[in-house]
Amino acid sequence: MIGPVELSAKIRRLAAERNALILAHNYELGEVQEIADFCGDSLELSVKAAAAEADVLVFCGVRFMAETAKILSPGKTVLLPVPEAPCEMADMAAAADLAEFKKKHPGALVVCYVNTTAAVKAECDLCVTSGNALELVAALPRDREIIFVPDRNLGAYCAKKTGRKLILWDGCCPVHQRLTPAMVERRRREFPGAPVLLHPEASPETLALADAALSTGGMLREVKKMDADTIIVGTELGILHRMELENPGKRFIPLSSQAICPHMKLIRLEDVAESLEKMRYRIEVPEELRRRAELPIRRMLEKNLNF
Ligand code: 13P
Ligand code: SF4
Repeated sequence: MIGPVELSAKIRRLAAERNALILAHNYELGEVQEIADFCGDSLELSVKAAAAEADVLVFCGVRFMAETAKILSPGKTVLLPVPEAPCEMADMAAAADLAEFKKKHPGALVVCYVNTTAAVKAECDLCVTSGNALELVAALPRDREIIFVPDRNLGAYCAKKTGRKLILWDGCCPVHQRLTPAMVERRRREFPGAPVLLHPEASPETLALADAALSTGGMLREVKKMDADTIIVGTELGILHRMELENPGKRFIPLSSQAICPHMKLIRLEDVAESLEKMRYRIEVPEELRRRAELPIRRMLEKNLNF
């Protein structure tokens, strides 16, 4: 069996041979984040994927993220190192159900969270991520109804912060839904004065108790600026890897030590090496679907809200 050092060297060699860029989400296993060329949140990864000059993108994350990269870069080979890495929230919205739902709200703009399948994006007018949802929702035309799919928590958070009325789909992230107000209260008792950061996929009741709601990339930037030496982090545990590496003098306390997304832990270094060696598993999106799914993502990246 080959050790992690040799495996990392093999991955870097193969990535150079294939002219491949390795992208990893902030929740991936620490060793996978370390081998990646770039780690980020969904928005940062989409921007990177759109601008990349590599021939191959190896996407270490869940499927919708790799699919988004393929939609933006159809000429590139996009590889997901495991055959399936679903996002439970993305699987809570099916395109056919959304098409039916839209019939009940004719004329409504449809905003999708990036955590959706290509088929759902193809039914939507605008895509958002946790990193830009507030800004984009606030700027939507005032004379249109707005459907928000699939995260009812991020949708409710946007509605509260922007004052816009949103018609919410009933989906959520099970990992963030399990973060409760009682957990925040307990951590505040245990670590008096420590600020609490939460991801906006948490429920409104829990978010109401946070000091800030931020995307994973937003959290990583925020903790660098904070004076506090102890910070309570309400999101998936994978984020602690970079937080600790980048802020050696600070202590990060997970809001819950159970906040683990199993789908973000599927990809191991061995899978990244095999993916590059065997050029698998290729993400394909049929061209007609890809063109329709690209529109809401391009609007998001260009901040183009002319509907
Ligand atoms: P970010 O875009 O904030 O990284 O979130 C992605 C995600 O899946 C959160 O559960
Ligand atoms: Fe999906 Fe939740 Fe996992 Fe993020 S943490 S990928 S929203 S299931």
